[in-house]
Amino acid sequence: MEHPDHPTHAQRHDQHFFDSFLLVFGVLVAFAIGAYWLAIYIAGNEPGSYDRGGPTQEKLIDQRLAPIGDVQVAGNSGTQAASSAPAPVSGSASAVAQTGKQIWEGTCSACHQTGALGAPRISNKAEWAPHLAKGLAVLEDHALHGFKSMPAHGGNPALTDAEVIQALEYMLSQSGGASLVHK
Ligand code: HEC
Repeated sequence: MEHPDHPTHAQRHDQHFFDSFLLVFGVLVAFAIGAYWLAIYIAGNEPGSYDRGGPTQEKLIDQRLAPIGDVQVAGNSGTQAASSAPAPVSGSASAVAQTGKQIWEGTCSACHQTGALGAPRISNKAEWAPHLAKGLAVLEDHALHGFKSMPAHGGNPALTDAEVIQALEYMLSQSGGASLVHK
């Protein structure tokens, strides 16, 4: 018969098991808490840094997507001038020197590609013939100052006179008027 004060072999075994169990349990709890804080740290950092980069990223994307020129169709010229004042963001894009083709694509193509408002279509020599017959000086004047449904500067006040002429020369050279442009 064992004395009640002395632990039996089985009791000592239980005690040992319990100690190891506590140790393992403690390590697991510590690990879980560590993982929990790590997760909070990462979650707290990532969206934060993403947000800080967000608006900047969007601005850069906007800049890359900004149109080279903008098209103004009809309307009174007062509001046109106001609405197409170069925005600070797209300003950098329009500061880049453009070719006549690019200017034409950015502004004139809106009507002269599709024939909108009855505009003579680019490379359609039959449609252009009666216009070409007026001579370069008149065509330049009408491109710069407008003529019937043809708005001054193609409706884009952001274009300089020289840019309008460049676009005009490109369009004429594609539409049977090369001899007018390159005399
Ligand atoms: C909003 C539409 C529109 C845009 C944009 C536009 N045009 Fe026109 N354009 C017309 C129309 C419509 C006519 C035909 C006018 C007519 O003879 O009745 C025309 C005619 C012309 C003519 C012939 C004028 C004449 O006296 O026969 C020239 C030159 C011309 N456009 C140049 C340009 C250039 C250069 C641009 C770009 C900078 C441009 N257009 C952008 C609508 C447009």
